[in-house]
Amino acid sequence: MKKKESDNSMEKIISLCKRRGFVFPSSEIYDGFAAVYDFGPYGVELANNIKKEWWKAMTQLRDDIVGLDSAIFMSPKIWEASGHVKGFSDPLTECRKCHARLRLDTLLEEAGVFADEKMTEEEINLIFEANRGKIKCPVCGASDFTPGRKFNLLVQSNLGNFTGDWTKEPTYLRGETCQGIYVNYKNVLDSARVKIPFGIAQIGKAFRNEITARQFIFRTREFEQMEMQYFVKPGEDMKYFEAWRAARWQFYLNLGISAENLRWHKHENLVFYAKEAYDIEYNFPFGFKELEGVHARGDYDLTQHTKYSGQDLNYLDPATNEKFTPHIVETSAGVGRTFLALLTEAYREEKTGTLEDGTAETRIVLKLAPKLAPIKIAVFPLLKNKPELVGKAREIFDKLKLTWRCEFDDNGNIGKRYRRQDEIGTPYCLTIDFDTLENSEVTVRDRDTMQQERINIDELENFFRSRI
Ligand code: GAP
Repeated sequence: MKKKESDNSMEKIISLCKRRGFVFPSSEIYDGFAAVYDFGPYGVELANNIKKEWWKAMTQLRDDIVGLDSAIFMSPKIWEASGHVKGFSDPLTECRKCHARLRLDTLLEEAGVFADEKMTEEEINLIFEANRGKIKCPVCGASDFTPGRKFNLLVQSNLGNFTGDWTKEPTYLRGETCQGIYVNYKNVLDSARVKIPFGIAQIGKAFRNEITARQFIFRTREFEQMEMQYFVKPGEDMKYFEAWRAARWQFYLNLGISAENLRWHKHENLVFYAKEAYDIEYNFPFGFKELEGVHARGDYDLTQHTKYSGQDLNYLDPATNEKFTPHIVETSAGVGRTFLALLTEAYREEKTGTLEDGTAETRIVLKLAPKLAPIKIAVFPLLKNKPELVGKAREIFDKLKLTWRCEFDDNGNIGKRYRRQDEIGTPYCLTIDFDTLENSEVTVRDRDTMQQERINIDELENFFRSRI
């Protein structure tokens, strides 16, 4: 399904998110807090549904993956072992006129010059020098920049440090969730009766001091990752890597994302330990950008943690008595990016008729898969001031809410209530009218077709069960 109806679809999605309580800018009453967002009442439902689908696909539907919820704070040694303290950085330049701090690789790319955040400071500065004339500050338009320097993205804290000068020995808010998986690999192996190949899945917050955070919730400084690390026998990685690529692609199709809005991006400039790395990209309103990474990481992670911790993280194969360091295939997705992809995919403006003055009557509708919709069923009494209708509607609502996330709404005319539910993606609206009191039938209205049908109250649960 082609999604882009206009160039300003990003603004429309941002506006809907604010208006209908999906996403709020952080700390708004204090003029905001850059690159951090809050999920509102419907946003938290959608985000939870995304996580539920991922967790189900990764754990419930498989017998080779177990879950984990490691702490955000960990020993700072972990971030040294992983290479983050030394090497987790993006190239930064500063506009000498307006002092905006900007990501140099992005500036170069936007000017049509190939650059990569993995390049060394020397490499990227060479390219920068050769192309300075092409680059303007996106904030003030000037072309006077400081030389590029690598800026470390790890966010520091004083947790557990009472010396008053914690900058000398900082602790870190985790920059990725997978490190918590690597350092618990042995605990899981010893406690969960798993055998290689097996995976550990985790959903949790990660923090990065992103230099420029733009494009709404696409790139934020606090975000949530859904990561799975699959431990395999050396030499078997590429077989599982291909299987995981296929599985992760299918996951997005199952969420209702169309294949034409997805594509693979192969990393050309691999980090030294990686064997292969691909991103699944989604066609956001600002173009195809990374949604998830699928990476064959070799034995780098466990080797580094063996070296730095002094612990033996080898695997003893019970069948062959062979000892080896497992290789890892990683799948790493962002909750916020999946959220934004789903909203982009689902957002529609549809003509529903013609008004008396000849202009088009339109509705905004989020065509989310029912399993992802924040509210599954909205229950309306036809009139607010008729206690018998309200009572019956409450009775039905109280029954349905035991199984599905429902909403009760008796405000305004039915047309307005439909429009509101369309905007938040509710697949079914149910109206209780005077006929209901006579024949026990309610009107069920379908979000996508806008068709209405009468269903007996006793049949409602079966009706919804087969559809949601
Ligand atoms: N453990 C591997 C890893 O963290 P990554 O490509 O840096 O790899 C994985 O991040 C995923 O996390 C991305 O594909 C994206 O969905 C999400 N992500 C990364 N940085 C993000 C940010 N600043 N804001 C929102 N999501 C982000």
